Amino acid sequence: MGTSRIYLYKPSPVFLVMMFVPMKVPLLDLRRQNLPLEAELVDAFRRVLTSGQFIQGPEVEQFESAAAAVAGARFGIGMSSGTDAILVALMALGIGPGGEVICPSFTFFATAGSIARVGARPVFADSCPECFNLDPAGIEPLITSRTKAIIPCTCSARRRTWTRSSRLPGATGWR
Ligand SMILES: Cc1ncc(COP(=O)(O)O)c(C=O)c1O
Repeated sequence: MGTSRIYLYKPSPVFLVMMFVPMKVPLLDLRRQNLPLEAELVDAFRRVLTSGQFIQGPEVEQFESAAAAVAGARFGIGMSSGTDAILVALMALGIGPGGEVICPSFTFFATAGSIARVGARPVFADSCPECFNLDPAGIEPLITSRTKAIIPCTCSARRRTWTRSSRLPGATGWR
């Protein structure tokens, strides 16, 4: 027979309010980041509207070189969304049915969604409890002969804690 214990817990008034007052918590509020940039954004929208060039053109070219400079890459490619960017990268690598892609368990759903969309299988790796990014220690045991890629998303722009490692089994041939 087990013993029973009674724990006395005195909840704070704030906790009680949170427990019993219904609150609407939005998934995210884009107005908080967009409204401070309103004038700059409206200017850019107006430039595109008056040029009539909604696809490619100088605005996109400028964005692509600015993005490449920030990423320290030779090229940048403007995409319609983050989801499409992941999808195109997976397609460009020829990843599809039968393939596995390791990704963090704690990330936006577009990561696993895009992997599934090309017909591959998302394999979830644990996240680091301090930085919330993909924990490098959790990757190695998940690598199989079917592993085609690892997507190490950064969480809320937190600094990534690992780089491509030649110590990963079968690392030759990784792109
Ligand atoms: C890690 C990550 N990947 C992909 C996306 C998808 O971006 P989008 O909403 O532009 O498709 C997001 C969006 O928040 C994200 O946080």
